Amino acid sequence: MSERQPFIEARGLEKSFGSQHILRGLHATVYKGETLVVLGPSGEGKSVLMKLLTGLLSPDAGEVLVDGKRIDNLDERELLTLRRRMGMMFQNGALFDSMTVGQNVAFPLRMNEVADEEEIYQRVEESLEIVRLSGQGDKMPSDLSGGMRKRVALARAVVSRPHCIFYDEPHAGLDPVTADKIDRLIKRLEGEHGITNIVVTHEMRSVFRIADRVLFIKGGVVYWEGTAAELQSVDDPFLRDFIDGNSGAPW
Ligand SMILES: Nc1ncnc2c1ncn2[C@@H]1O[C@H](COP(=O)(O)OP(=O)(O)OP(=O)(O)O)[C@@H](O)[C@H]1O
Ligand SMILES: [Mg+2]
Repeated sequence: MSERQPFIEARGLEKSFGSQHILRGLHATVYKGETLVVLGPSGEGKSVLMKLLTGLLSPDAGEVLVDGKRIDNLDERELLTLRRRMGMMFQNGALFDSMTVGQNVAFPLRMNEVADEEEIYQRVEESLEIVRLSGQGDKMPSDLSGGMRKRVALARAVVSRPHCIFYDEPHAGLDPVTADKIDRLIKRLEGEHGITNIVVTHEMRSVFRIADRVLFIKGGVVYWEGTAAELQSVDDPFLRDFIDGNSGAPW
């Protein structure tokens, strides 16, 4: 991450659901080739932000720019083209249980109307290889461990050869060693494939392993941002308690 070139920019994002005002003028920049970790208490709008940055939701006010071009006013066709460049690993994995692993991974290609069966097969194999699941394409998701399901979801996110990948809680429910494997995959995608990573997680150990920069969301805005090293030595009592997992409540 030498020269910092903006890739995705959020400008003054506002989002409400009914009377709930979730995002309140949020500004943020994701730079090309970095791994950005998004932190914040539960329910503060991290998943909502991911959906706004990928065009799955529209903001009530504000703009999202990708490569300098607004995406919050694109039509369906333009959005499809955009999403081809953005991989998404959703919170809870969201695999189709009635489809094999291979069919799950192939799904975005079929959505994008890739018709050549040989190409689909090659791309699925290439993606399974990246997540170290070669030859597992015929299994059903229900036959996999939680960690393997996450890796299938990641294979599905990389199959379109995206420029960036959004991960919503990729570590949830994983043991520390499996979480570490996911972290290594994330950093390999950055290092070997030049992918920009945007990761929402509550796993502090992973934050310090993978983050180039950290955004902390609170009160509908970016409450704090800085490098992982800066976060490690931060003084702010609220952030300290969050990092140390200290609620201050009596036993
Ligand atoms: N489609 C929706 N309709 C109504 N409310 C929504 C919708 N999506 C999100 N919300 C609300 O917005 C708030 C923020 O939700 P979000 O899922 O972004 O939180 P989060 O920061 O990702 O939390 P967690 O860490 O628990 O995943 C929540 O109160 C949620 O109920
Ligand atoms: Mg969430």
